[in-house]
Amino acid sequence: MAWSVAFVSQKGGVGKSTKARALAREATASGLKTKLGDLDLEQGTSSDWHRRRLKAGLPPAASVEVFSTARQAIEAAGDADLLIIDGPARASKGTSEIAKVVDLLVQPTGASLDDLIPAIKVFNALVKEGVPRSRLVFSLSRVGTEAEEAEARAYIAESGYETLAGCLFEKPAYRQAMNSGLTVTETRYKGLNEKADELIQALIDKIGEV
Ligand SMILES: Nc1ncnc2c1ncn2[C@@H]1O[C@H](COP(=O)(O)OP(=O)(O)O)[C@@H](O)[C@H]1O
Ligand SMILES: [Mg+2]
Repeated sequence: MAWSVAFVSQKGGVGKSTKARALAREATASGLKTKLGDLDLEQGTSSDWHRRRLKAGLPPAASVEVFSTARQAIEAAGDADLLIIDGPARASKGTSEIAKVVDLLVQPTGASLDDLIPAIKVFNALVKEGVPRSRLVFSLSRVGTEAEEAEARAYIAESGYETLAGCLFEKPAYRQAMNSGLTVTETRYKGLNEKADELIQALIDKIGEV
């Protein structure tokens, strides 16, 4: 397997599954052999969603499978170009197990201090355990305004971490798309798709760097 990336966070509802699914779809569309490992056994968001996608007659976003550990997902990745891990909302121990085996860890976060402060603590704990900062990146989710995005970016930069270019604004159309088995890059609205594409492209570029 060439590359592996995991979406992790301590909090739920921050956009891990949303971004994992969009990355899977876009990587597959660009010709990469892509696997999406759903590690959220409680919720199975990505695997349920993929079933909806196939039922709707849409092309597969990737090969999607459920695993209980990142190591299992890596072992099953075979000759895939890209393994994407959709992590569970989990305490630091689970996250550090994932961090040990993947190339890049993406932590989606909301823009409020309520979200940013604990999210930065998660990365600080990983750095303390020896994970290089270059393998950790934030990605902003469910942002309200451009001003809010800029403020959150500045806050993250001050803590010494990188934030991916692009972000996802909070839009019901994104939820609607995912209800129908689509990704945030496949909504009915060109502007929203372009915004989501920009974020996913930044992520693909970042994966190429690590
Ligand atoms: N940018 C967004 N705008 C609107 N709804 C969103 C957005 N991102 C995620 N959601 C919705 O928020 C909920 C949680 O997102 P999800 O990606 O499942 O988070 P996680 O995997 O981190 O728990 C889902 O209902 C999803 O459809
Ligand atoms: Mg999830």
